[in-house]
Amino acid sequence: MRVLLTGVAGFIGMHCAAKMLDQGHSVLGIDNIDDYYDQKLKKDRLALLANRENFSFHKIDILSAHQLNAVFVNFKPDIVLHLAAQAGVRYSISNPDKYIDTNIVGFFNILEACKQNDCLHLFYASSSSVYGGNLKQPFEELDNADTPLSLYAATKKSNELMAHVYSHLYGLSTIGLRFFTVYGPWGRPDMSPFLFANAITNKKPIKVFNGGDMRRDLTFIGDVVESIGRIIKKTLEMKEHQLQKKDIGGKEKGKYKIFNVGNGTPVSLMSYISELELAFGLKAIKELFPMQPGDVKETFADTTSLREFIGYVPETTLKDGVKAFATWYIEYYQNK
Ligand SMILES: NC(=O)c1ccc[n+]([C@@H]2O[C@H](COP(=O)([O-])OP(=O)(O)OC[C@H]3O[C@@H](n4cnc5c(N)ncnc54)[C@H](O)[C@@H]3O)[C@@H](O)[C@H]2O)c1
Repeated sequence: MRVLLTGVAGFIGMHCAAKMLDQGHSVLGIDNIDDYYDQKLKKDRLALLANRENFSFHKIDILSAHQLNAVFVNFKPDIVLHLAAQAGVRYSISNPDKYIDTNIVGFFNILEACKQNDCLHLFYASSSSVYGGNLKQPFEELDNADTPLSLYAATKKSNELMAHVYSHLYGLSTIGLRFFTVYGPWGRPDMSPFLFANAITNKKPIKVFNGGDMRRDLTFIGDVVESIGRIIKKTLEMKEHQLQKKDIGGKEKGKYKIFNVGNGTPVSLMSYISELELAFGLKAIKELFPMQPGDVKETFADTTSLREFIGYVPETTLKDGVKAFATWYIEYYQNK
């Protein structure tokens, strides 16, 4: 199978590309290697893939519809796994324009390229942030998700709406993946596990928002990659007549689906700080701060639809996941 993977230098993208190459697929990765965070980390991730058979990389910005289209014409992907985005809730407060560009215009370019080049299967990253301040826990795909608390969340929800239009009008099969705080080796430096690890190892204070009264459904990268691989496989195995129905909640087979990809076991901020302290063998210096604008207090995935569709849900314990992350972190930064 020929996989076009956007955001391949990113955290989730690199891991997905590696897994797909392991499974014998051809992967063309694209990324603009933007400077939102350490570009060296992105280049080092790409270096892990660079020499693998059946892998190629093009440095392309998805805002260039022209370049994107040329990639589709030449590579003729069977599926697109679209992970490129301007990520991060907090950054969207100070840099809203980047979110509209990459996440709205860029996403539109991906949809159009699929349509114009008869690529029938689009799998794309959404986010748990679409649930906004919903109080009903756990979050189910069929819950109302119309009250985002950040522009980032609003762009991800908009992607789901735009995908629905292309499924409805043009028969594109679109599967949205609502990721819940993904962490692990090669993770994102702007996210709390990484920020905390950095502060703990440098004996600097960590910022604990909302006085620590927050819970996150942390999901280990290996489980996310496994889930994505199974969702793609299952979708491609479905017969054409099963792909006729539209289906928002992922409860039935259909062309338009949304899945929560989360662990389903939220943990308090303080308990994952404790796991990091154990894994690094160091005490954290905690500084308490109020809630950040745009943030939500708790995320909690209902993974029933995921389990029903692929017979699997993320399962790595926080202890094991944090240990794997810390092992990678120490090795990577020791060799820097
Ligand atoms: N990591 C998480 O916990 C999490 C949670 C929810 C949703 N998501 C979503 O999953 C996807 C992958 O996230 P990630 O954690 O790997 O993020 P990441 O920032 O590590 O990866 C995104 C990649 O996209 C690239 N990119 C950005 N703008 C681009 C553009 N205009 N053209 C081409 N490439 C561009 C970046 O250079 C980066 O390498 C994103 O869509 C993100 O919003 C991630």
